[in-house]
Amino acid sequence: MTPIQETILNKKTTNTPIWLMRQAGRYLPEFREIRKLNPDFIRLCLNNDLSSKITLQPLKRFELDAAIIFSDILMVPYGLNQKVEFKKDFGPQLGELNLNEISKIDEIDFIEKIHPVYKSIKRVSNSDLIKDKNLIGFVGAPWTLLVYMINKHSPKKELIKDFFKDEYLINRILITLERFLKLHIEHQIKNGATVIQIFDSWAGLLNKKDLPNYVYIPTLNLVDYVKSLKIPVICFPRGIKNYKDYCDIVKPNAISIDYSVDPISISKEINIPIQGGLDPKVLLTDTENLKKQTLKYLKIFKDHPYIFNLGHGVLPETNPSMVDYLVKMVKDY
Ligand code: CP3
Repeated sequence: MTPIQETILNKKTTNTPIWLMRQAGRYLPEFREIRKLNPDFIRLCLNNDLSSKITLQPLKRFELDAAIIFSDILMVPYGLNQKVEFKKDFGPQLGELNLNEISKIDEIDFIEKIHPVYKSIKRVSNSDLIKDKNLIGFVGAPWTLLVYMINKHSPKKELIKDFFKDEYLINRILITLERFLKLHIEHQIKNGATVIQIFDSWAGLLNKKDLPNYVYIPTLNLVDYVKSLKIPVICFPRGIKNYKDYCDIVKPNAISIDYSVDPISISKEINIPIQGGLDPKVLLTDTENLKKQTLKYLKIFKDHPYIFNLGHGVLPETNPSMVDYLVKMVKDY
């Protein structure tokens, strides 16, 4: 068993494993070099030669316990024929949402459009660098993808006015997403993903009364599906106010926490394996502060099955030497 499987499945509390969200990306000069020559982000994700190489870049530098496949949650709307572009200093920009267009897509069209992602997973899983480690496949949760598909860009603090206006459209999209997300998960696993993480980056935008319809039920369906394939599933409902309710209802194998929650109360309230929490901005400070904050999480979760990670992705301004320091510290603890 790998260290991450030991933590998630055997509830082991020693030798804390570590990987980082956005561990492959803009803070690495070797990534920026490739990115400069590949201005179209979607095309880069669909270049399996480069995307498999990028996935492995952080493993060449640091003693991480997992690789996460270099792709994006928005490959699914792209696979469903909604236009997706990534604009510099703005982020994702999606095109018109045409239900007729989306309803026409069948499984074969979808897989054909994004199959290089699976080829990349296969290549990474055959690499020596991933031996005895996990390869993490992922999807966006239906709610977060719905947000992008309707809102068309990152919502920052709130949704566009009239977001919930067209109930028919919303329900059709959620049903379609469930079907294609399952397919996407299945193909990632078939090609070598050994853990699945579900990113619900905009879970924090919803009121309590809307959580069952948009977050709990659609995510539970995916979690049950991953479990049926005998693969562990980690959920990251960023910004959700009540992590305990979420865990009790959705029942992932592990829960990834963001940096706004108090780790002490989380460690008391939640019984399943926990991942993450450290504020990525700590990596922008100095080694002394990094050490202090890292030790805080390691001590709080000392007797809890815990996977070290951040409370959101590595920031582009991060100095790789700080990541190196962090990984060594966790490994030597
Ligand atoms: O290293 C990894 O974590 C694996 C690859 C990965 C990317 N995106 C690559 C990426 C993963 C797991 C994601 C998930 C993702 N994508 C999420 C969920 C996690 C989160 O951050 O909340 C979301 C919301 C997206 C959508 C998305 N993709 C946004 C909002 C942006 C622009 C903002 C940003 O952070 O750059 C992207 C672009 C993106 N996805 C980049 C990378 C490496 C940057 C692309 C570039 O080089 O310009």
